Amino acid sequence: MSTKEKVLHELENRKGEFISGTSLAKKFNVSRNAIWKAIKSLESLGYEIDAITNKGYKLSEDSDKISAGLIGSMLNTSYIGREIEILQSVDSTNTYAKKIAKKNAVKQGYTIISETQTEGKGRMGRSFESPANTGIYMSIILRPTFNIELTQLLTSCVATAVANAVDRLYGTDTKIKWVNDLFLNGKKYCGILTEASISFELGQLEYAIIGIGINVKSLKNSLSPEILEIATSIEDECNSNVTRNILIAEVLNNLEEYIENIESRQFMTEYRSRSFIIGETVVITSNGETKQALAINIDDNAGLVVQFSDGTTEILNSGEARIVKA
Ligand code: BTN
Repeated sequence: MSTKEKVLHELENRKGEFISGTSLAKKFNVSRNAIWKAIKSLESLGYEIDAITNKGYKLSEDSDKISAGLIGSMLNTSYIGREIEILQSVDSTNTYAKKIAKKNAVKQGYTIISETQTEGKGRMGRSFESPANTGIYMSIILRPTFNIELTQLLTSCVATAVANAVDRLYGTDTKIKWVNDLFLNGKKYCGILTEASISFELGQLEYAIIGIGINVKSLKNSLSPEILEIATSIEDECNSNVTRNILIAEVLNNLEEYIENIESRQFMTEYRSRSFIIGETVVITSNGETKQALAINIDDNAGLVVQFSDGTTEILNSGEARIVKA
């Protein structure tokens, strides 16, 4: 992390509190001038920081605005997130991304982030609740040149990259429910919806839209107790403030790294070790059919291998599996 990122992290974690330049300098082992420069740079990116002589610096309460400039300053990617469009509200970032990808108007890696979505989409035709200023609702346009068969790996690759970014930043232990739901302590906090358009003439992907929805801020005062039984947010599980800009940058950095290595299938080892479905009895819904089976493995194509009571096995490449509670 650069000094600017470290300062932002500290101000976020101690929001509402003045922190002196001297103590920041001491903590990060840099000069007071370096802290002053970091503060000026954060201000130029849109952060509101109160500065009072003899007291120090304080981040204003509504400072976690998503900022393309700040995210850009933390990226080490070559294409993902190199162009970011921030919207205040949109029906769905995936729908919006699809429209512009179809027109061929934007480059690979173009990223759209909205503060809220009025018609956020989940998998299996479900909706995705996207309350304002509390989460990350983002879609990334890819124009992959890899073999079309690898498309089915994209969602699990993205799920692993996001899980890894979150755990590295917040010391959490993310588990993945096949195919793409991210869980903390038994509750879902992130979902991924990948949509692709295939050119049959060229036999390759025209574009893929990777949609990521993450519950970031505490949900405790905004959701009903029934929903809180199954849904959570990063802040509710790690008990500290989360800066969305830092998390977005970390996710984008990880995404490029994981996607660039998708052909090696290296991420599958991590995907499997995060999975909590293996060994469980599941109800599977696939192609309109519902069946009960035992989940026995996840294969190298991220397919779920299940075994039925008569001993026969099947590999599922799409659909949904719900764990049957004992
Ligand atoms: C799921 O949990 O079923 C998938 C949820 C995916 C939600 C994200 S939020 C950003 C992007 N835009 C959408 O409309 N959906 C995805």
